[in-house]
Amino acid sequence: MRLLDRLLELPIVYSLWQAPFAQQKFEPVERQLAGLTMRRVLDVGCGPGTNADRFADVDYVGIDINESYLVKARRNHAGRFIQADLATSDLSALGKFDVVLVNSFLHHLPDREVDALLTRVHEQLAPGGTVHILELVRPSNWSLSRVMARLDRGLYARPLGQWQAMFSRHFSPRVVEPYSFGGRLWSMVYFQGTRR
Ligand SMILES: C[S@@+](CC[C@H](N)C(=O)[O-])C[C@H]1O[C@@H](n2cnc3c(N)ncnc32)[C@H](O)[C@@H]1O
Repeated sequence: MRLLDRLLELPIVYSLWQAPFAQQKFEPVERQLAGLTMRRVLDVGCGPGTNADRFADVDYVGIDINESYLVKARRNHAGRFIQADLATSDLSALGKFDVVLVNSFLHHLPDREVDALLTRVHEQLAPGGTVHILELVRPSNWSLSRVMARLDRGLYARPLGQWQAMFSRHFSPRVVEPYSFGGRLWSMVYFQGTRR
């Protein structure tokens, strides 16, 4: 594992790395949440609870593999935080959710595991529920955002078209919004979808 990857495993280092951008990164979701009914929210790959405060008044469940992130999340945020490997774990015991958030997680998984996870996420969506995915886009040309995508721990930042195809195999698209932040340092896509 690279030194930077090991450092980012530490909650304090990860929070410092993300803190300047967390709000800007989340902005497309924030804009869309306003009109939605939310009783239960599942945060897939929740990290140290980066977005948990946004859901402080609903039944919020965050899942992550890194227990030290979750210790920090439990200390600082309301909600339930569960340690699990999302590449393999069965989510069915958690019940259905109105909103599933997948923020910057899928670029940690190879294609086969992304497909398997999105199948399980689809099963957990309540009728009328929506999935909100934010993902790191790998620009086709050399650029700073391409370097940032490589510096991040995930090995699988994908081109925009590939993300769109992967998400649309599982969900009916409602919003597909490419965007950038940090002075175009980070290139992302926001996808909102419903059950097929
Ligand atoms: C880039 S971080 C995003 C965290 C948070 N969603 C955010 O926006 O700050 C990716 C997260 O995925 C988690 N993760 C990576 N592989 C995982 C796996 N197989 N199962 C569960 N979580 C995993 C990492 O521990 C990390 O918290």
